[in-house]
Amino acid sequence: MMLSIPDVLSAEQLQQCRTALESGNWQDGRLTAGHQAVNVKANQQLAQDDPLTQQLGDFILARLAQHPRFMAAALPLKVVPPRFNRYTGGGTYGDHIDNAVFSVPGTPHRIRADLSATLFLSEPYEYEGGELVVQDTRIKLSAGHLILYSSGSLHRVEPVTRGARLASFFWVQSLVRQDDQRSVLLELDDSIQALRQQVPDSPELVRLTGIYHNLLRQWSQT
Ligand code: NI
Repeated sequence: MMLSIPDVLSAEQLQQCRTALESGNWQDGRLTAGHQAVNVKANQQLAQDDPLTQQLGDFILARLAQHPRFMAAALPLKVVPPRFNRYTGGGTYGDHIDNAVFSVPGTPHRIRADLSATLFLSEPYEYEGGELVVQDTRIKLSAGHLILYSSGSLHRVEPVTRGARLASFFWVQSLVRQDDQRSVLLELDDSIQALRQQVPDSPELVRLTGIYHNLLRQWSQT
């Protein structure tokens, strides 16, 4: 599954986040890299326990909870609190696959990463390079837009050779673990939404909606 989710943040909300991040306490991203990733990671991050990380992360989570497309596509059960990174001056993150399980700091919770998400916070014209490359797909979205992709995918961030690339990133444990099943549900949901516009009184809409919920009942794990 790979899907872009537009307009997670409005222009005004984006500006608020950007202003707050400019005075952020950026640290070497290698502090949080695992044994393998430490050799390929060269960026900056806000500490997970930085109050700014928590404040902006909560804000983004609240936005996502109100975003119908994100909710329909990800079917989130648990979300790792969003983190923030900054690539500049040749900063890069070479090919890697994300960890399978994340601990939530300060809690006993562990979250399986089914989906990885990057929320772009810089406009594409503000930096050169910096594409997120997932398998063979190159991604560079407008600020405020989010890309969702399978956490099992090999991916990297190309070197940023001019300007700065700010982003938020996090992981989702989905109600539906299997990518193909989640894609079927999204396709069905999209079709139901379209039919609701075209034939709102059709009794088949009720049946299709029932099928959606019965598939979700079969495939979801909580
Ligand atoms: Ni990654």
